[in-house]
This record gives sequence, C-alpha cells and structure tokens, in this order.
Amino acid sequence: MMLLFLIFTIESTKLPNWDVFRKCDDMRFCKVNRNIQIDDWSLDYNSINITNNIFSGSILYQNKESGIILNMSQLKIGCIRIRFDLTDENESNYRYDISKLDLVIDQTIINDLAKIEMQKEGNQIIIKGINDISIIIKNDPFLITVKKGDRVISNLNVDEQLVFEHNLNIKLPDVEYGGFTESFAYGPTAVGIDIHIPDRTVRFSGMSETDMNMNIPDSTSEPYRRNAFDHYSMYGSIPFLIAHSAKTNTGVFWLNPTDTFFDIRTMSSSRKVRFLSEGGYIDCLIFDEDMKTMIDHFTQLTGKPAAPPIFAFGYSQSRWGYKTQDEVETIIDKFDEYELPLDIFWLDVDHLKGSAPFEFNHETFPDPDKLIKKLADNKRYLVRLCDIHLPTWEDHKVYQEAKSKDYFVKNIDGSDFVGNCWPGKSSYLDLLDEDVRSWYSTQFYYNNIPDVTAPNVFFWNDMNEPSVFEQMEGTFPKHVQHRNKIEVRETHNLYGILNHASTYEGLINRNEDKNSRPFILTRSFFAGSQKFSWTWTGDNYADWGVLKRSLSVHMNMGLNGFPFTGSDVGGFTGDPSGELLVRWFQLAAFTYPFFREHCYYGSEYREPYLFEGEIFNCLQEAMYKRYRLLALWYTAGMMANRTGISPIVPMFVEWPEIDEMHDVTHQVLLAESILVAPVLEENVTEVDVIMPPGVWYDFYTGILQNKTSSVNVSLMDTPAFMRGGKIIPLYLLDSAPTNTRNVLPRPITLLVALDENNESEGIIYLDDGLSFNFQKGEFIFRKFTLKNMTITSRRVENETSVPDVLNNSIIEQIIVYGIDDRPVIFQNSFNLCEDWDFQVFFMKNSHNEKRSNAPIYILIASICVLIGITLIILIIKRNMKKKQDQYEEINKH
Ligand code: NOJ
Repeated sequence: MMLLFLIFTIESTKLPNWDVFRKCDDMRFCKVNRNIQIDDWSLDYNSINITNNIFSGSILYQNKESGIILNMSQLKIGCIRIRFDLTDENESNYRYDISKLDLVIDQTIINDLAKIEMQKEGNQIIIKGINDISIIIKNDPFLITVKKGDRVISNLNVDEQLVFEHNLNIKLPDVEYGGFTESFAYGPTAVGIDIHIPDRTVRFSGMSETDMNMNIPDSTSEPYRRNAFDHYSMYGSIPFLIAHSAKTNTGVFWLNPTDTFFDIRTMSSSRKVRFLSEGGYIDCLIFDEDMKTMIDHFTQLTGKPAAPPIFAFGYSQSRWGYKTQDEVETIIDKFDEYELPLDIFWLDVDHLKGSAPFEFNHETFPDPDKLIKKLADNKRYLVRLCDIHLPTWEDHKVYQEAKSKDYFVKNIDGSDFVGNCWPGKSSYLDLLDEDVRSWYSTQFYYNNIPDVTAPNVFFWNDMNEPSVFEQMEGTFPKHVQHRNKIEVRETHNLYGILNHASTYEGLINRNEDKNSRPFILTRSFFAGSQKFSWTWTGDNYADWGVLKRSLSVHMNMGLNGFPFTGSDVGGFTGDPSGELLVRWFQLAAFTYPFFREHCYYGSEYREPYLFEGEIFNCLQEAMYKRYRLLALWYTAGMMANRTGISPIVPMFVEWPEIDEMHDVTHQVLLAESILVAPVLEENVTEVDVIMPPGVWYDFYTGILQNKTSSVNVSLMDTPAFMRGGKIIPLYLLDSAPTNTRNVLPRPITLLVALDENNESEGIIYLDDGLSFNFQKGEFIFRKFTLKNMTITSRRVENETSVPDVLNNSIIEQIIVYGIDDRPVIFQNSFNLCEDWDFQVFFMKNSHNEKRSNAPIYILIASICVLIGITLIILIIKRNMKKKQDQYEEINKH
C-alpha cells in the first residue's frame, strides 16, 4: 500500500491531479454554504458601544439573538479589523483563535488601536477613525462599507450571504471520501462573507503560492481552495488578497487557518471575493495604501522576514538520491574542478537511517565529520532534511521521549494518532502546545543530534503540511485532536509554521551566544512564516509552463510578505532539456531569492558540470551572474528584513498609476534597479520588453533603450535593463567565485545609471552575513548619490564598527551609463567604509535632451582659453624672435 502511495505521489507530481482532493461539493461546509439563499442578518442598534477603542454590537438573525457579536477597530498602522465573534464562551472553546498566536500575529500591533468615534445618522451607524477612514453599517440589508474620505474601499456582505455556523447541539454524521472516514466532534462551524472592491478593473493577486499567473482570474464553477497538502503548489497558505489597479490598492487579510475556499467574480462595477472557511472566525483586516507601505504594515502585523544568512543567496546543490558520502564528496570536488560556485550542499531523506528524522545512516555516510569539515573548510554549508513525523520505533530516541511525555496529536478516543510516512508508522507532535514546541526545539541542540551537526549544518523542514500517507487527501484526518480537544480542522494550515518556528528557536539557542542566523527551508507555511524560514514551491516538474508561472508565484509570495522563496531549478520530476535547464538557471540567478537545483531520484543527474560546450558555458555564466549580483541581492535581502519588501517586485509596485503595468507578469524588478525580462519560452530568439517610463539602459552594454523594445536573445542571454537614476554595487569577479563568503570581501564596482537630470542614487548594505552583530551596528551601510557631476558616498546610519571581513573592502571602479553611447569607466580606489566625493566629467549625450549644457560650455571655454594662451605665447615668441633678429642685425653692424 505504501509503495502504491509512493508511486501515486511521484506520478501525481508530474501533473497536478486535482481529483485526489475534495472539491467544494464534496464537503458539506462548502456545498451548503456556497449555495445559501439570502440570509437575514442585522445589527442590533440598541447594543452598540465603543469600549477600549473597539466598536461592538450584537448581530441578530431574523431579528433574534444569534449569539454572534460584531467587533470592529482600526489598528494604529491604519488597517481596519472586522471580526465576528461568539458570545458564548463554551462555543468559543472548540474554535481556535489564531489572532492570539504571537507566532503569526504581533500582539502589540494588533492591540495597538486608534481612537474611533461613532455616530448614528438615520438608518446607519458611522464609525470614524484615523487617516480619513470611516466604516458605515446599515441594516435592511445588513451591509458594512469601508471608506477613505469619500472613496469606498470595500463593501462587505453585498450578497447577503454572511455565514457563521455555530451550534454545539447539531451533530453532523461521519463522511466517507476515497475509502476514508471523517468525523465532526462539534457540529457545523463554517464562516464566510463576500467583499466587493468597487473597481471592476482591479486585478487580484497574492493568496500565496499556487501554480498560476500572478493575477488570479475569476473562479469557475469550482472555487479556489487553500488547505495545505502534500502536492505541488498546495503546501501552504497566506490568505492575503491584494486588489490592485491604476486607481486602487487594497489588501484583504482573511485571518483564518482552516480549510478555505474562495470565489472571485467580476461584477458590473466591482470585483468581489467571497471567502468560505470550515471553522475559526470571520476576522478580516483591510488595508488601503500604496503597495510598499501595505507590505510594510502587513509585515509589522505578521513579522518581518528573518535576517537572511548570506550563504542562502548562493547556489545550492540538491537531489533526492545522493546515496553515499563518496558520491557527495565527489560532486563537491567537481564543483571546484569545473570552477562552479557552491554554497550549500543538501542531504535529502537518503542520508537518514530508515528514512527517519533524527537518525543518520552511518553505513552509507561513514564519516559525517569529514564531510562537514570539507564543506566548512571552504566556507560552505550542509543542510539536512528533518521531517516532522516520528517513527513509532522502540529504538527511536526522540519518538520514545515524546511518547513518554504524551506529546502527540490524538485520535477521538484519546490514543496517539498513528499515520504513515517515509519511515513507516509514525506519530505527529502536538505542536500547538507551547511545551511541545519548546521541547522539539531542543532536538536541534548540538548534543542532541550527535555526530552530525556543527555550526555550518542547518535544516530542511519537509512534509510538514503534514504529509500523512494513506489518509484522506494525504494529511491528518480533520477529527484528529490537539491536547485541549481542539480538532486539527481548526488549525490545519498552521502545522508548518509551528514546525519551523520551533526549529528556528532550536537553531538560535543551540549556540550559547545565540549569535548565528538560522537557515531553515520549509515546505508548508502560513502568514508569519517569513520570520523563521525560507520556502520553495515543492514538487514542480520540468516544463516550460512551470518555469514561466514560477515567476508569478515568487512575485505573489513577495506581495504576501514572504520574500525568500525559490523553485526546484530544472523541475523536481522529469528531465529538462539543456535549453530548459539553462533558462531555469538564468531565471533563478536573476529572480529567485533561493537558487537551488533539486530533483527526484527518478530524474537523470543534472549537476551543471555534467554538461558540455554551450550548455555548460551558459549554466556557469548564469551562476557567475548571481555572484556578480551578490551585493545587490544581499542589500535587498537585508532591507527586506527591515521593510518586508521583497528583492523582486512586479512592475505595478513601482508604476501603479500605469494600468498596463498591472498585467505584466513576465518581467520583474530586482532591487528597484534592474528590470529583468527572462526568457520563459522554448526556442526564443526575441523577447518583448515593456519599458516603464524613465531612462533605461541595456544592463550589459549600457546602450540606451527604446521605450518599447524587442530584444534579440541567444541561449547565453538574460535580457536585463538598468534603471536610469540608480546606482548598484557589483562584484566583477576577476577570478572564479567559489561561494558567497569568498566573494563578500572582494572589490566592488559601482554601476551608475544617469536619469534625465544626470542624477542617480543607490545604496549598499553589507555585514558579516552570518551573525546578529548588525543589530549592534556592525555593518557598512552607504548611500551613493550623483548630483552636479559629483558622486558622493555617505553613511546612512551610525555604524559602530566594520565587520572584520569587510575591513579592507574597496570600490575599485565606477562605471557610468549615460555619459556616452558606451559605458565610461573611472578606475579609482575608494574606501567602502569612508565618506568620499568624486567628480565625474561628462559631455552632453544626444539621447539625453534635458541634460545640463554646463559641461560642454566649460569644455568649449577651456579649449578657447587654451587656444588663446597658445596664440599669445606664439605671438610673444614671434615678437621676441623678431627683436632678437633685429638685435643681432644691429650687433653685426
Ligand atoms: C518531498 C519534497 O518536496 C522533495 O523535495 C523531497 O525530495 C522529497 N520529499 C523526499 O524527501
């Protein structure tokens, strides 16, 4: 059976097999509530009040008490919170209130409320908050409208289909699906509401990973679903929908971790989303501000992305199927032999005895210390797979300890739930419990993973939806219970974040000084996961469509505040052609924050050195490009740690007022400076580029670009364009890069691209890339500005000291685009850590009409002066000669 499941899993990864998963009509909560008729809800105006800046009022159903209360507030960060609660505490006990989980929501931010005031005007209640925001509630029909000034941001319950099922007395019958049974301990629990955005041109994006275009089209007869499963593009959920157009930028955060369906429709004057979740609360946060501010605020609420260790931006080599230490060491040597950079080597399930987490196969990997040292000696890292299931073996130390502490999730009868995964029968930790999480975190301490750990060893939390073989939809049955009797139905999409949050805690605490940045890769995630982990899109396949859509996935994840993502380069299953692999390397080098080649054991080996000739050259060149851009990636990555904004953003983020930009999903802007238009299709010789306003240069040649461009491409090319007005740091690599730490202290080249006023600016941020010393001011953070023909370097913040590794860092040259048709190079050495000014002298460029004429006048004037002086000297000399001749003539006589 397990084998059958295995085959099924592997086969199904080739093409999404949606049939395994239940559709809306297969589940009562969705089927019944999606088709409800208009429901008669209203607000009891006699019950309303404002206490501690929270508006509340009872909700009536058919004019009778419903047991539901409406709470509304405005957070000081500006967003509106609309929440429907239960009045009966007993009823609340079987629901899980995710808004109180600090791993997801910052409790200070969510409780820091703006002052609101309320007034009654005719048949409506008006609540006024800060930033010109107001909320209007009407009865008959019950409608909530959020406004900013006179502009309506959103209308809730336009369709009068609000759902809040709650009644402990109703018993639901067991259901069967695919040969499995599911029970319901607490009766119906669904919640749902429709939200209309009054602009029919808005595109809907976000809602985390899914193998689709960034802009989500209207749903068909089947709504979209977000429930974490072991299936490509279904592993996690960030229920944050972004509605964007030239006129609108609204975000709707549906704070609900249960199985969720959503419909999207375009109406005559609006677009709407209707969420329907199996449990939890209607808890909805509505943002309305420019995109960057919104991401900043959303990541204040859910947490800023963890400070990335620098090696995470380097190249990662992985494969399910590296079976022996010999094989692994040979591969690492090949990278050096072929001058290919490598930062992280990954060990998949193959290295675990019996495929079990916290075990190690000492037969096939006889000397792990040697392997770890080999990597450490070259400043490289090892990442080990560490799944969440614990095999029920008598000799599995971690399982036995958890068992003795009664730490597993339970069946209805109170026994431990036992499922099946790689090692066979396994139980699953009850990670909702803080004690369990804290105990689990200690498993990552050095003395708890004997022999096979070190400061350069990190972990990969896979299968954490969780994946449970031979169960309905391949995960926990929903009736499995946590220790407080809450069903996993209420918490399902949180299992991943509970897993990697504890791993993160363990990796921080394993060092006495707690001063090393953890690196974790997780497959499942929820809003807030960005605080602890990186993620990737799981088991994709070698296909051009997958390559193309992956860019959309990563842009969406960035909009959802989770910037550090990537996809298996080359595809997890299947075998990419040389051309597809090259294009994938190029795409990753420029647009994936996480750049890892990984595949399934049935795929052919595809390590880049196995290729020859043009393909090898192109792969190597793509990798080198990544390392040339390292300072840019790292700067943008550390800025993401402060702002939440991803190093890569879709075009509309920078040019929201241009309608066309909202539909550009095949291009991306890297670090606000480089427009990347990667080749995403087979046999392509030309790529169409949509140029935003402003001055743009070919990234490689510095040639000024036309507004709409079609560029020719060879296999070697990744079209990219430098934004006029920006200055970026590059490593020009005089010798082959081996890894990020080796590149970090190398000399920097500044690439300066002039805008229409001959100005530009940019930043560089560098630190040791590994520790938290940056929090004490140990970093270099410089702003470069070009103005009045002078480039200046100034410190941005008060650094206390420069990390040792950067002590001798210099800028060795400055390349300027826009002075001439070709780049102008200034060879000069500048200390990266000091303030300096440097005068560049340039002539008017015919492409750049608005440019100042001063330089040319100065030049002409100087030449005139020079000619004048020469003439005067010549005249004087001539006169002197004449006089001399006359004198000699006189003397002769
Ligand atoms: C599933 C993961 O998605 C995949 O990347 C990994 O290789 C396998 N599990 C085996 O561990």
